Amino acid sequence: MKRRILIIGASGQIGTELTQQLRLVHGNDCVIATDLHQPPVKSQEEFFEILDATDVDAIKRCVLKHQVGTIYLLAAMLSATAESAPRKAWDLNMNSLLCVLDLAKDGLIDQIFWPSSIAVFGPTSPKKDTPQTCVMEPTTVYGISKLAGEFWCSYYQRKYGVDVRSIRYPGLISWKAQPGGGTTDYAVAIFHEALKTGTYNCFLSAQTALPMMHMTDAIRATLELMSSDLSSVNQFKAYNIAGMSFTPEQLAQKIKAKLPDFKIHYDPDFRQAIADSWPSSIDDSEAGKDWKWSARIDLDHLTQDMLDNLKDTLANS
Ligand code: NAD
Ligand code: SER
Repeated sequence: MKRRILIIGASGQIGTELTQQLRLVHGNDCVIATDLHQPPVKSQEEFFEILDATDVDAIKRCVLKHQVGTIYLLAAMLSATAESAPRKAWDLNMNSLLCVLDLAKDGLIDQIFWPSSIAVFGPTSPKKDTPQTCVMEPTTVYGISKLAGEFWCSYYQRKYGVDVRSIRYPGLISWKAQPGGGTTDYAVAIFHEALKTGTYNCFLSAQTALPMMHMTDAIRATLELMSSDLSSVNQFKAYNIAGMSFTPEQLAQKIKAKLPDFKIHYDPDFRQAIADSWPSSIDDSEAGKDWKWSARIDLDHLTQDMLDNLKDTLANS
C-alpha cells in the first residue's frame, strides 16, 4: 500500500489549499490533515485529526497509525505574531521541525516538506533581486527560526541522508483561508476591506515593496519540488521562489481600476520595521535551473482572481 501523507498545521492559509490539492492528486484517504483547530472548509473535515505539532509522542503515534511516509510541516508562528511571543514562537517553530527530522532520521518517514520564508534575509542582505545565497542576518524571531531551521534541515540531510525539501515562500495571497499573522497579510486584508467597506487602513507605508505570490503558484511550486527527482535537489536548499513584487500603493491602484470608489489610508505600525528589513524582490534563478520553477500569475491576474472569488464568497456567507 502507498504510504500516506500527513499535513501538520493543515487548517491555516497554506494548509487549506495544500490539503485540497494533495487530495486531488493522491485521493482523500491518502492525505491526513491535522491541526490544533478544525479546518475552515467544511468539506475538509473528513480525514482530519487534532494534533499538536510540539507533541512528539502524538506525532509518532499518528505516523504509525496511518502508515505515513511524507510529512508537510506547516505549523508555525508567523512574523508579526512571533514578535509578541518570541520564546513561544521559537519553541513551536524549532521543536516541531526537530521532531519530524528525527522521525525521518529514525526511518519512520521517507520525506519532509518544511517551508522557509523571505524572512531569512535581513537589512544587510541585498534588497533587490536578493540571491539564493548572500549575507543573511535576520532581525525578527521568525526569521531567526527559519534560518536556523534551514541549517537543521541541511545538517540532517548531510549527516543522516534525510530527504527534506524547502521553499522560501514570499508573501502569499489567497481567498480560501485567512492569513495567520504575517507582515504581508495586508495584501489579503486589502481585498476583503475593499469589497466589504470600500476603504482600507494599511499598516505598511505606501512605498513598501515586498515579494509576493498567488497561492496557486505557491502550491504548484511545492508539489513540483516534492516530486522532483532527488538528483536535481540533492544538496539541501530552501529555494528562493519569486512571483511578483509590489507596494501597497501599486496594489491599491490595481484595485481602484476595478472598484473606482476604493480608498486607502496609511498608518504604519510595528510591522513596518519588519517589512523594511526584508527584500523588495527575489532572484529565483536557482529554482528555475534545478527544478524548472517559473511563476505564472502576475499582479493583474491576481487582482482579478481575488476580487472575483471573494465577491462570491462574501455573497454566499
Ligand atoms: P497559518 O498561521 O495560516 O497556519 C498555521 C497553522 O498551524 C494554523 O492553522 C495553526 O492553527 C496551526 N498551528 C499552530 N500551532 C500549532 C501546533 N502547536 N500544533 C498544530 N498546529 C498548529 O500559516 P501559513 O501561512 O499557512 O504558513 C504555513 C507555513 O508556511 C509556516 O511555516 C509559515 O512560516 C510558512 N510561510 C508562510 C507564508 C505566507 O505568506 N503564508 C510565507 C512564508 C512562509
Ligand atoms: N508571509 C510571511 C509573513 O509575513 C512571510 O514569511 O510572516
